[in-house]
Amino acid sequence: MVLLMQKLCMVRDIGIHGNLFGGTMISWIDEAAASYAAQICHTPNMVTVKIEEVVFQKAVKAGEQIKIYAEVKKVGNTSIALSVEARRYNVYSTEESVVCSTHIVFVRIDESGEAVPIPQIVKDRYTNE
Ligand SMILES: CC(C)(COP(=O)(O)OP(=O)(O)OC[C@H]1O[C@@H](n2cnc3c(N)ncnc32)[C@H](O)[C@@H]1OP(=O)(O)O)[C@@H](O)C(=O)NCCC(=O)NCCS
Repeated sequence: MVLLMQKLCMVRDIGIHGNLFGGTMISWIDEAAASYAAQICHTPNMVTVKIEEVVFQKAVKAGEQIKIYAEVKKVGNTSIALSVEARRYNVYSTEESVVCSTHIVFVRIDESGEAVPIPQIVKDRYTNE
């Protein structure tokens, strides 16, 4: 998996149970993955069409460091599917543990918002891996 983003969980990110608010984590994941999908597909015109089941395995507390990783699972005609993991990073031991994971699908769109094909060179690159 490729490292996409690093976040420090701030007090402002905490919800009413003392843990990182789930919607904030989803926002981080969506932003990081959208940026990665745009880089892979060589276009800024990518929209999120689906965020699959999001599993919050472990609570995240204020002051903890989070690293967001992704890998390409599939490149379709107009869509790209990514597997994403958010991992807590222990600055003392450098150990990482998954705190949240999901799959996200992005679609390439034209100026009218219609789905358009992802370049063949991108499909070839990820089909042959
Ligand atoms: C993304 C969007 C353009 C797709 O339109 P559409 O009419 O469904 O287009 P299509 O049916 O041609 O599907 C396009 C691709 O999306 C995929 N797709 C559509 N719905 C999907 C779903 N629920 N799950 C997974 N993939 C899906 C299709 O499989 C297809 O992939 P492929 O070409 O690689 O086979 C449209 O749904 C949209 O504008 N959604 C809103 C996006 C948005 O605002 N996101 C939030 C902000 S970024």
